[in-house]
Amino acid sequence: MFTSIDKIASWAKDKGFIYPSSEIYGKLAGVYDYGYYGTLLKENIKNAWVKDMVQARKDIVLIDSAIFMHPTTWKASGHVDNFDDPQIDCKHCKARHRADILLEDYGINADKLPIDEINKIIADLKEKGTTIKCPICGSTELTPAKKFSLMVKSNLGAPTDVLSEDNVVYLRAETCQGIYLNYKNVLNSTRVAPPFGIAQVGKAFRNEIIARQFVFRTREFEQMEMQYFCHPDLVKEKYEEFKEYRMNWYKKYGIPSESLRYYKHLKLAHYASEAYDIEYKFNSLGDFKEIEGLHARGNWDLSQHTKFSGAKLDYLDPKTNERYTPNVVETSCGLNRVLLAFIDNAHKTENLEDGSTRDVLKIDTRLAPIKVAVFPLLKNKPDLVNKATQVYDILKEDFMTEFDDNGNIGKRYRRQDEIGTPFCVTVDFETLENEELKNTVTVRNRDTMKQERISIDALDKYLKDNLK
Ligand code: GAP
Repeated sequence: MFTSIDKIASWAKDKGFIYPSSEIYGKLAGVYDYGYYGTLLKENIKNAWVKDMVQARKDIVLIDSAIFMHPTTWKASGHVDNFDDPQIDCKHCKARHRADILLEDYGINADKLPIDEINKIIADLKEKGTTIKCPICGSTELTPAKKFSLMVKSNLGAPTDVLSEDNVVYLRAETCQGIYLNYKNVLNSTRVAPPFGIAQVGKAFRNEIIARQFVFRTREFEQMEMQYFCHPDLVKEKYEEFKEYRMNWYKKYGIPSESLRYYKHLKLAHYASEAYDIEYKFNSLGDFKEIEGLHARGNWDLSQHTKFSGAKLDYLDPKTNERYTPNVVETSCGLNRVLLAFIDNAHKTENLEDGSTRDVLKIDTRLAPIKVAVFPLLKNKPDLVNKATQVYDILKEDFMTEFDDNGNIGKRYRRQDEIGTPFCVTVDFETLENEELKNTVTVRNRDTMKQERISIDALDKYLKDNLK
């Protein structure tokens, strides 16, 4: 179990999951690269999400819209005017802070409060004898809170020196705006009609004031979002349905109920009329933290885009002849944050009977980066290596498979345990020579550490049956 975010970050780098970006140049804060196992894990989480949010449902389709969108998109959506966080600077060490997060340390929830209110809270605290301090250097010399836009600008389409507020092409701050802009296209070209959903997985960018919690909060990240378009009368029912559906998704992939909870937002983002978060209790952060947002967005986005573009984004129900602008229920999940939650939940240090310990990533087999590892018992016996290579060649057709002939067999098991590989297959002398056991291999289970002897011919089926 990881007891701090630094420990999980160092583990992730050592094991080939996640690296700091541009490390040889001294890193780029708030940005991370994914290594081999991290990339595979991310793909598997994405696929699990698409499977349950799209494949398993008749009423949801998938799109992949561009990161760059017309500049007016973000004016219409309200992001240019309203998508900001309260920034406070330390005059002494120059560290930047988010005022609402600073105030959490003083037991105050200032989430989404206007700047004036935040500054008033800080002044009131001071009057009552509590001066807020810089958590880095302890100085009380802090600037007043000011608005800091989270939108990331690009210079696409215009030389940087002539960028004006009117022609800025932003990097998208949430993937769902690409869904709204394609609502009519999807409606006209796919066999869906309200109530229906559009799902999308892709990158989003935010100029986060602080990005100090590894991949929990970064400036470049991925979202898995679904916008469900329905008649206003159906919103309540659909909101409750998706609240439960999404909570069950985390449980399905191995997060225990006691590590999950809902958090109801009292102060809402500019677009939302109802908002709950799904929170996971991170061992590494010591508390429950948001991993997904569930928002009732009303017809805010479609109406705003109609207002700014002139395009009619409504729906004429052919059965009732009623024309209405669909209301939206949104599920918005941070892929990287959820990946962090799955690692945080699955990593265990176990005490073994012989007095030793082992580190193991007991992650759901569907999410595990590598499904099976194949070992020749000894590296210097060509017959063993050849046979193991044959087994590897068979398995790699169906499973993400790793071949490893390095070090003693115990060490190889441990290495696979650490990256969460559910099964290890060993080719030994019995496989080659034993009358009865010829062409059988041992299959070792990550969770039980028990070994079974299986015929090579039956391996593919065994693995398919045992990998959910
Ligand atoms: N479209 C709605 C929306 O974007 P949000 O609550 O701002 O809502 C949804 O973000 C999810 O995206 C969060 O629950 C979180 O998992 C993830 N997320 C947001 N900002 C992030 C960041 N800076 N780094 C990593 N993940 C982030």
